[in-house]
Amino acid sequence: MNTTDIFDKEKKYFLQTYKRIPIEIVSGSGVYLSAKNGDKYLDFMSGLGVNALGYSHPRIIEAVTKQIKKISHLSNYFITDIQTEFADKLLRFSKMDKLFLTNSGTEAIEGVIKLIRMKFGQDKKIYSLTNSFHGRTYGSLTLTERKNHRLGFEPLLKNIDYIKFNNIEDLKDKVNENTAAIFVEFIQGEGGIQPISNDFANEITNLKKEYDFSLVADEIQSGIGRTGKNFTYQHYNVNPDIIVSAKAIGGGLPLGAFMIKNKLNDILDYGKHGTTFGGNPVCCAAGIAVLDYLSENNLISKVDNLSIYFFEKLNNLKEKYPNIIKDIRGKGFMIGIEVNNFANEIVNKFRDKKIIVNLTATNVLRLLPPLIMEQKHLDIFLDIFDNILIELS
Ligand SMILES: Cc1ncc(COP(=O)(O)O)c(C=O)c1O
Repeated sequence: MNTTDIFDKEKKYFLQTYKRIPIEIVSGSGVYLSAKNGDKYLDFMSGLGVNALGYSHPRIIEAVTKQIKKISHLSNYFITDIQTEFADKLLRFSKMDKLFLTNSGTEAIEGVIKLIRMKFGQDKKIYSLTNSFHGRTYGSLTLTERKNHRLGFEPLLKNIDYIKFNNIEDLKDKVNENTAAIFVEFIQGEGGIQPISNDFANEITNLKKEYDFSLVADEIQSGIGRTGKNFTYQHYNVNPDIIVSAKAIGGGLPLGAFMIKNKLNDILDYGKHGTTFGGNPVCCAAGIAVLDYLSENNLISKVDNLSIYFFEKLNNLKEKYPNIIKDIRGKGFMIGIEVNNFANEIVNKFRDKKIIVNLTATNVLRLLPPLIMEQKHLDIFLDIFDNILIELS
């Protein structure tokens, strides 16, 4: 089958919900992806923030292989030591008390909506922020304020509303004793790498003291070390009651979790929630490998340090090409480069020069490199970006 065939077949067999990148990737190793025609691509996308340890990482391969030989699936009627070991590690990593394991981020968000409804009742309001993304099933889609995702799917869930992003007045106007929860991406991912302001976060903390709602940190994209701390909320003066994680936590296998503080225990009790695949033992084995590797190699603080260098160089390019680069945002290895123009051309030119970069929110180049990326790889990116900007200016 040649590359043309596979894209023809994609059109024939699949619902056309994705715009596929026109390269047939056949394997990956470290921070590189290999195409069928032999081309190698430096990857700044990480499978949308999943492949924190890059591709074919020996620790993940070893852990998964060992586990799959023992047992690949067991229903949640049983508990296995691989699940308890993963739970113990993830709870220590997140400093939370209890968790529920899922297959995906969306599924974890759905579980949290149920927990909040069960605790606070149907009438209290749940808020997310404008421009947010929390998933595409009905509950998570209701929390997702980005309108293009919701168009045509109404009616959505009741009593979910939106606070204007980083707008303290709106926050104060809306939050009161009738508030059950606020869901926050501390750096909005799909929304264009938009960080919450410190003042907005501080005001959430003030209001939380007054009204005792639950603060839910959606760390699906931003968590597990991506921004140079275990979770992105730790850059702020906030104390979430619930953390939602997925993507990187499974090392490339489908795994998600929501973690709660003890005070929310006993709400989703026997029979109130469940999943067939969530917490699959092979995925948990990969999850343990991810968490162990991050801590043994001090990788999160390496990301933090390396990103200082990278942001400085990116900001130099912004100064050099002010007509093209409008803004550089984000933290650690979750970086948005907002451009005034040429967004698609830049992504295509990167691809021609064998670098994979993703575009989000129309004109924001989103960089989510694997956390194992080294300075030499960042330098390759910077050199090529400089050349592209010269060509375009
Ligand atoms: C912040 C955030 N929440 C929720 C989701 C949905 O997660 P999943 O695609 O694993 O269901 C995503 C996915 O991009 C996300 O970035």
